[in-house]
Amino acid sequence: MEENLEDDLQLAQGAERASDAGFLWEFWYPAARSVEVRGRGLVKAMLLEVPLVLGRTDGGKAFAMRDACPHRGIPLSYGRFDGKNLECCYHGWKFDGCSGQCVEIPSLTSQDKLKVDRIFAGHYPCLENDGYLWVYMSAPTARVPENIPSAPKLATFSENYKSTHLACDLPSHIDHGIIGLMDPAHGPFVHQSWFWRSKTSIHEKAKQFEPISYGFRMSAHSPSTNSAPYQLLKKMTGAPVTTTIDFILPNMRTEEIRSGKLWFSSLTTVTPVRRDLSRIDFLAAWNVPLPVTVFRSFAKTFLRQDQETMIQQAEGLKHNPRLMLIDDADRPAKWYFALKANLIEARRTGAEMVHPMDGPVTLRWRS
Ligand code: FES
Ligand SMILES: [Fe+2]
Repeated sequence: MEENLEDDLQLAQGAERASDAGFLWEFWYPAARSVEVRGRGLVKAMLLEVPLVLGRTDGGKAFAMRDACPHRGIPLSYGRFDGKNLECCYHGWKFDGCSGQCVEIPSLTSQDKLKVDRIFAGHYPCLENDGYLWVYMSAPTARVPENIPSAPKLATFSENYKSTHLACDLPSHIDHGIIGLMDPAHGPFVHQSWFWRSKTSIHEKAKQFEPISYGFRMSAHSPSTNSAPYQLLKKMTGAPVTTTIDFILPNMRTEEIRSGKLWFSSLTTVTPVRRDLSRIDFLAAWNVPLPVTVFRSFAKTFLRQDQETMIQQAEGLKHNPRLMLIDDADRPAKWYFALKANLIEARRTGAEMVHPMDGPVTLRWRS
C-alpha cells in the first residue's frame, strides 16, 4: 500500500512528460473572478490545458466556450461579441454564447445544404457562485453529462459578514499544490510570523480525521493554543473555538472556525491551469470584528510564504528527485493520491468508488 502511494507521487511528478497530465475531469473549477467578466468583453482563461473564452450575455448570464473556432481553430476570443452571439474574426461564423450553437455562416448561398445549427463550438457549463465563474470541465472526448452537481459554494453562518478573495499562481503540478495545502508540518518553518506563531512553539498534536464523500475531514476540534488569533477569539466570545477542515476532490479545502455567534469560513481551491502551472484561489468570509484590510494583509503574507516555497520546490522538482511521504504528517497527502486513483478506477470500471479510509483515525505529528 505504502509503496504504491510513493509510486503515485513519482507519477505526479513525472506527469509533465506523460501524455496524461493527471487532471481530474468532470468537476467544476474556478476559471475567473466574476468582476473580470464585464459588459461585452471577452476574457481568455485556461483550465486543465483547455483554452477558454469567457463572456457574459446582455442578460447577465456567464458562459464558457472553448477558445477555438470549430472552422479553422482561430481563438474565438479575437472575435466580436454582440451580447448574445460571438462572431469569429476569420470568416464571420456566429455562435450563440450560451449553447455554442452556430447561428450563421456568411459564406453560404441559398443553394447550400449545410445544416448550420448542427455545428457547435466547444462549450462548457458555466455558473457563478461566490464571485467566481465556475466552469464544469467535461473530459475532452466526453459529452457533458445530463445531471451535473452544482458548483462549490462557501458556507456562511449569518446574514451580515465581510468577505475577500485572493489568488496566487504556483509553478507546480496541481498535486504538489494540493499536498502543500494540506501539509501540517511546514507551518513552523514556512509561516513564522510574529502575529501567528514562532518556530519554538512547535509541539505534538493529535488530530482526528474521518472519511467524507470524495474526501476527508479533520473533525471539529479546538485549534492549537499556540496561535494568538484563536486565543483572542475565545476571549471575545467566552465560548470554545472549534475548527473543522475538509478536503474534497478534486481540489478543495474548506475551513470553518466557530465560537459562539462568531464565525470564520474559507474555501481554497488549487486549480490546474497547465500541468506545470496551478492557481490558488482563496475566498474567506467572517463576522468576527476584523477589518478586511487587516485580514487581507495577513492572508497575503501566508499565501506569499506558500508561493515562495513552491517556487523553490519547483526548482528542485525540475530534476526529478525521488520523493517521500512519511507518517503521520504526510498521511493526508497519501489519502489525496488514493482518493484520486480510486475515483479514476471507479470511473473506469463503473463500480462504486472505494474510500481509502476505513473509518475515523487519529494522526499525530509535531508542528
Ligand atoms: S475560422 Fe472561424 S469562421 Fe473560419
Ligand atoms: Fe502553507
